[in-house]
Amino acid sequence: MKFLIINGPNINFLGIREPGIYGRTTYADLCGLLQGWCADAGVECELFQSNHEGAIVDRIQQAYFDKVDGIVMNPAAYTHTSVAILDALKATAIPTVEVHISDVSKREAFRQHSYVSLAARRTIVGHGIDGYREGIEWLAAELKQAG
Ligand code: DQA
Repeated sequence: MKFLIINGPNINFLGIREPGIYGRTTYADLCGLLQGWCADAGVECELFQSNHEGAIVDRIQQAYFDKVDGIVMNPAAYTHTSVAILDALKATAIPTVEVHISDVSKREAFRQHSYVSLAARRTIVGHGIDGYREGIEWLAAELKQAG
């Protein structure tokens, strides 16, 4: 089974950006953790981060041709704005889990709406970096059960 882990804009600044909200784990640390969690769940994984909406759309489309089984995604700020990313997820129909490090439901009003949630099988918010682990484990179990 093959997963694609997508991180959106400014996630490459983890550990630097607003540590009170996003913690001190760096993006490099996160990549190591993601690889370990995927290995533990018995899934192959590819990591992708971009600050560009179109590049994320392109990567989701590529995942269709690469026969990716699942996507775990923190769309970051594009969560709240991107119909294009929502449409790409719907177009490819790849089972997706949405992850947010912070609890977006308790933050500014503009963070309370997610386009990506309309295509995601599950949304995990406010569990910090561990939310990615939960997302990987949940999606692997879900897809294994579905056969
Ligand atoms: C975020 C929440 C978003 O609102 C924000 O724009 C981010 C990160 C999170 O992981 O908590 O960049 O997706």
